[in-house]
Amino acid sequence: MHQLVVKGGSGDSIIQVGEHLAALSRYVPGKRVVLITDNNVWDLYGHAFPDHPVIKIGVGEQIKTIETVQQIYTALLEWEADRSTYIVGIGGGIVCDITGYAASTFMRGVGFGFVATTLLAQVDASVGGKNGVNFKGYKNIVGVFNQPEFVLCDTNLLASLPEQEVACGFAEIVKHGAIGDAALFAYLEANYDRALSLEKEVIDKVVFDSIKLKAAVVNRDEKEQGERKILNFGHTFGHAIEKTMAVPHGVAVSLGMVVAANLSVQRGLLSPDDAERINVLLQHMQLPVALDIDRKSVLDAMRRDKKREGQTIHFVLLDRIGHAVVEPIAIKELEKVVTAL
Ligand SMILES: NC(=O)c1ccc[n+]([C@@H]2O[C@H](COP(=O)([O-])OP(=O)(O)OC[C@H]3O[C@@H](n4cnc5c(N)ncnc54)[C@H](O)[C@@H]3O)[C@@H](O)[C@H]2O)c1
Ligand SMILES: [Zn+2]
Repeated sequence: MHQLVVKGGSGDSIIQVGEHLAALSRYVPGKRVVLITDNNVWDLYGHAFPDHPVIKIGVGEQIKTIETVQQIYTALLEWEADRSTYIVGIGGGIVCDITGYAASTFMRGVGFGFVATTLLAQVDASVGGKNGVNFKGYKNIVGVFNQPEFVLCDTNLLASLPEQEVACGFAEIVKHGAIGDAALFAYLEANYDRALSLEKEVIDKVVFDSIKLKAAVVNRDEKEQGERKILNFGHTFGHAIEKTMAVPHGVAVSLGMVVAANLSVQRGLLSPDDAERINVLLQHMQLPVALDIDRKSVLDAMRRDKKREGQTIHFVLLDRIGHAVVEPIAIKELEKVVTAL
């Protein structure tokens, strides 16, 4: 087992990679504990939960809403929860985001922790202290920065994940290697098949290295004033694809990384060889590098991007594998790359 620390303004978050769900009781302080999970995770692993009241929140992005948070408040009141109540979210990114938001707001904030059960939640959603819900079709538009006191990443739980969910988690791991850890990137190139089959030693290492990168970035810039923006590599274009087509997040981010790498080459920042390495690794991780997209709608969505400033968008680019830079890109230049995709 390996430990990492995120130092947040609201307190430290201790992340344990390789810890077992069965050990959860050791991390939960106090007596009054309430667990929050989704229906799938309950069906698969509910038998291994410690004996505490459980709130089940359904499944899917459409339940990541204020209404679900209200149901949690209602259940907490029914359980006579108070300021000493401790809340643990056991699930993927949706459970973590909702649990973090509900726990941060109930009685102005009670203690909380996560057991992250998807690869995406382990390497991304559970780490960094962003908690929020969707509102009127806007993703994660309502939320708070607040660190969970602990995060357990039990990689054994990943065995039951559908292949698509595994691939989506790897999109973020490739991203972390590309923007900040050339050694992780090279390790994945050499061990992609063992990683995909979730071989214990390999998955524990890539999850740990991936969180280490994200934790280091968050430690330097928790509230995304500057450096944290590099974690959006592949996401500007990725979000535009997600808005126009019904594809999983990891699929959109994979395509977004291809576009960002091509743009980096076009600007003379990245070598064509490095862009090709990204292309090849994504394919090895069962992620797409080309898709029949409606270029016009995707470009329209980018023009409507919240982060657009005038005729430019701040884009995360690479100047080598393992190092990212943020540069303003003219919409016109984006059109060229998207048309060539
Ligand atoms: N807060 C952040 O910093 C942050 C970062 C990235 C993503 N997110 C959010 O995370 C969410 C996506 O997370 P996700 O991909 O984990 O989605 P998810 O929570 O919906 O989980 C995906 C699916 O896997 C199921 N599942 C969970 N654990 C399982 C297991 N061990 N075995 C089998 N099935 C399992 C779930 O029930 C669900 O159907 C999005 O809402 C996104 O906005 C947040
Ligand atoms: Zn992402």
